[in-house]
Amino acid sequence: MLLLESGVGNYVMSEGFRYSCFAGNNYLGLANHPNLVKAAIDGTQKFGLNFSASRQTTGTSLIHLELEKQLAKFKQRDDAVVFASGYLGNRILLHILKGEFDAIYADQSAHSSIIDGIPSGNAQLFFYEHCNVSNLEYQIHKNKSVKPLVITDGIFALTGEIAPLDKIYPVVENNNGLLIVDDAHATGVLGENGRGTPEFFNLGDVPRIFQTETMSKAIGVYGGFIASNTEIIRRIRENSPAYGASTALPPSLVCAASAAIELVINKPELRKRLFFNALKIREGCKQLGFLTTNSCAPIIPLFFSNRNDANDLSDFLKEHYIIAPLVSYPVKTVQFIVRITVSASHTDQQIDELLTVLEQWKIHKTDSISLSV
Ligand SMILES: Cc1ncc(COP(=O)(O)O)c(C=O)c1O
Repeated sequence: MLLLESGVGNYVMSEGFRYSCFAGNNYLGLANHPNLVKAAIDGTQKFGLNFSASRQTTGTSLIHLELEKQLAKFKQRDDAVVFASGYLGNRILLHILKGEFDAIYADQSAHSSIIDGIPSGNAQLFFYEHCNVSNLEYQIHKNKSVKPLVITDGIFALTGEIAPLDKIYPVVENNNGLLIVDDAHATGVLGENGRGTPEFFNLGDVPRIFQTETMSKAIGVYGGFIASNTEIIRRIRENSPAYGASTALPPSLVCAASAAIELVINKPELRKRLFFNALKIREGCKQLGFLTTNSCAPIIPLFFSNRNDANDLSDFLKEHYIIAPLVSYPVKTVQFIVRITVSASHTDQQIDELLTVLEQWKIHKTDSISLSV
């Protein structure tokens, strides 16, 4: 485990050493941005650390309403709500939509916040094969659902794969269903305006898609949000226990998130740089013979069929002062992933160093195999 002795930026300090950081989810490099830090300090000085009450009682402040207005504008929706964490978003939305679906169809690699968020009750839960739209369609027909609710990650957290919403959505529409996209990793990243996976597939304005989003990754702050039509947001405000009965988001985070959304809207060059960096690393890894995904997302998994190799690579990188962690994940036959994540703030030099060390590992690996033969 990496024990941080600094904030998270291009470099991190751990156990007295400075590492080049290709881990975490700081996609736009905002987690340490001076505008956000200043906004958080100003917010704390003005309002203190905590509003000390839930949104439904006495915890709602003007700055919450301003941030929600700003998020609605960013997402081109009627309204928005912010709440304690991105993890809660799926629970909140699934609870509010209860009664409007007869079965839930979740991607079999869906994030745990989706599975944890499924309400108890009448709707049955089915899993369709990972990103397999034919299998989704087959299951909806087999189970004779008249109102299916499909739920998937937008960008999958560990593999960076993008859910094929362009193919999923027609199935949802033809079956009179609803689609929830957990866009934790796509908000601020995908789409011309950073509005996420639906925008990426030109589905930004269709009526049956709902998104659950977080401010903890590309937005660089913390807290979850849902932007939607007036009726859904009203129902969340009035009827969601997870929203209504948890303490309001603290002033520092609300103010920092407002500053971050300004940057996400007004600095499209951050996304441009992010995709440039992601492409450079992904292509570099492929040229070195690593197995990875074809996605454009800023998550670049290196797949290994055995843990030792994955571990060895992650350790080798660390010995060369680079952090890219090993994460275990059950994806068919390839089971171990060294997860490289990219930020818009990574420099060309940092990326070149990463690719050089990856190449050195390949050479070291080939040498140790030939020595043992
Ligand atoms: C797909 C997905 N959904 C939801 C979450 C939860 O978001 P947060 O960590 O902001 O609560 C995460 C993240 O960690 C995630 O990867």
